Amino acid sequence: MCGIVAYIGTKPAADLLVEGLKRLEYRGYDSAGVAVLGDHGIAMERAVGRVANVEARVDAAGDIFRGTLGLAHTRWATHGGVTEANCHPHTDDRNDICLIHNGIIENYGALRTWLQERGHTFKSETDTEVLAVLIGELYEGDLEAAVQAALKEVTGAYAIAVICAQEPDTLVCARKGSPLLIGVGSGEYVVASDASAIVAHTTQAFALDDYNVCKLTRDAIQTSTIDNQAVTPKMMQLEMDLEQIELGGHPHYMHKEIFEQPESLRMTLRGRIDKNEGRIVLGGLLSHASQLVRARKFILTGQGTALHAAMIGEYLFENLAKVPTEIEYASEFRYRNPIVEEGTVVAAISQSGETADTLAALTEAKDKGALALGVVNVVGSSISRETDAGVYLRVGPEIGVASTKAFTGQVAALTMMAIFLGRRRLMSVEECRAMLDELELVPEKIERILGSADTIKRVTEKYVNQENWLFLGRGYNYPTALEGALKLKEISYIHAEGMPAAEMKHGPIALITEGMPVVFIANRGAQYAKVLANIEEVRSRGGHVIAIATEGDTEITSLAEDVLYVPDITEPLSPLLTVVPLQLMAYYAAVARGHDVDKPRNLAKSVTVE
Ligand code: G6P
Repeated sequence: MCGIVAYIGTKPAADLLVEGLKRLEYRGYDSAGVAVLGDHGIAMERAVGRVANVEARVDAAGDIFRGTLGLAHTRWATHGGVTEANCHPHTDDRNDICLIHNGIIENYGALRTWLQERGHTFKSETDTEVLAVLIGELYEGDLEAAVQAALKEVTGAYAIAVICAQEPDTLVCARKGSPLLIGVGSGEYVVASDASAIVAHTTQAFALDDYNVCKLTRDAIQTSTIDNQAVTPKMMQLEMDLEQIELGGHPHYMHKEIFEQPESLRMTLRGRIDKNEGRIVLGGLLSHASQLVRARKFILTGQGTALHAAMIGEYLFENLAKVPTEIEYASEFRYRNPIVEEGTVVAAISQSGETADTLAALTEAKDKGALALGVVNVVGSSISRETDAGVYLRVGPEIGVASTKAFTGQVAALTMMAIFLGRRRLMSVEECRAMLDELELVPEKIERILGSADTIKRVTEKYVNQENWLFLGRGYNYPTALEGALKLKEISYIHAEGMPAAEMKHGPIALITEGMPVVFIANRGAQYAKVLANIEEVRSRGGHVIAIATEGDTEITSLAEDVLYVPDITEPLSPLLTVVPLQLMAYYAAVARGHDVDKPRNLAKSVTVE
């Protein structure tokens, strides 16, 4: 989703801003722009399409882009089509104020009418331009004061960075609901939507809080509320190095992250498995352990892949910890007026920790008195700061738009939470130890699956021209089927549906035609025989079955056109293995169809608007 990068310091801003935009490309965007304030005033270039397009224009413009203060933006269209006029930065109608924005100004229509009545004109269809013009209208020689005054009139979400032609030594930023980090170097500041655009310059940073405004000059930071009350920022160390966000020889980030899973899961598990005592150690939950053990109900929430992890969490919490658990899309939970009673715990699952719907659901749950947990990857993200307690995934930065290693990290974290609770409720030491033994072996079992990547590629390529696929599973692997279908849709643009295997009979079976690929998650488990029966139903209608099966299962070879094997594992942990061939299938299908896996059409990595 929209990416912001802004700079004030002593280095040429244009190069640094373009490099920052390239680091933010993974977030998803459709157009980009750069503005620099130097001796020639404000120079600005914008272009639809790739960052490279705007980079070429900035290079061609030459000297007018000389300056050490500037703003840049990748836009993911919300208000107004993908056109150059709608690209950020936006200026006011006197070309004095220049602004970039991530979020949505909800009352922009009313503000636009009010400004038009005062004689202002507009060049774009965007909500952002309205904010630029409003700041211009309220400007009386102090940019920070004008931004504060304008934001008092605004409803909606924003992370903004603003410069003003009359103030060549000032960069003003503000935030409400959309992420914004301020990297603090020596004599320079880099402001960005996420750490990936900052770490090449500094690892010292702070996250701006909601309704805070920050004025940066080359030698000072001043943070205040929009009511001008001084705020002391909480500095943190960014735990990301450049190597982690580079391809390191892989053709795509998604490829890198799929293959990183043995190691990323080792990091998720490290120091948290105590086999001697037969328990899980989760430092982030200890302060609320007794409340968690006494909890009457868990609600696990998230969006996209994170919700699929939550669905597996529901099975784990109910089976291992025997605690009633529900899952719900955060976007629905928020507006449904959900019942939160004494003893309800709400856990938000999110890779980025910035998904607007998930954050809003968490706030709603807290307002209703729930204990709020986070299962989050990005340290210091908005969700992690909103929660009472939580578990970090520790899988490292995930750049690939289609989430892979974060999914297995989420499932592993939820597994550990279930064991943490289960052991304190009714799991015996022996049961717990047996589960921990199996959990420890997951990384090397994933290594074995990755070793068969060539087979997975060959099988995928057989079906890659088919436009409709089904993914079916039962129990723990029903959510895995949903995740397999989502991965395929996201990057290969093939129409895919995931559902419980038994549900197929209730309608979707009408879609099965000769040769249609139907992927069954058919590992050995409690419902194995029932899955085999579902396979027969598909075969008898001409569907081609690709089965994800347990190593050593020869029975299945007579039923499926193709079999992809995963090592044997106790059923509650099986999604951690069965999802890996599905991730690889999606990846190889997208590559075979000639798509740019890391820049999928229309998708945003982190959806920071509702
Ligand atoms: C977007 C992404 C998905 C992701 C979802 C939730 O839709 O494209 O890959 O699963 O957001 O993101 P989160 O950062 O909250 O896990």
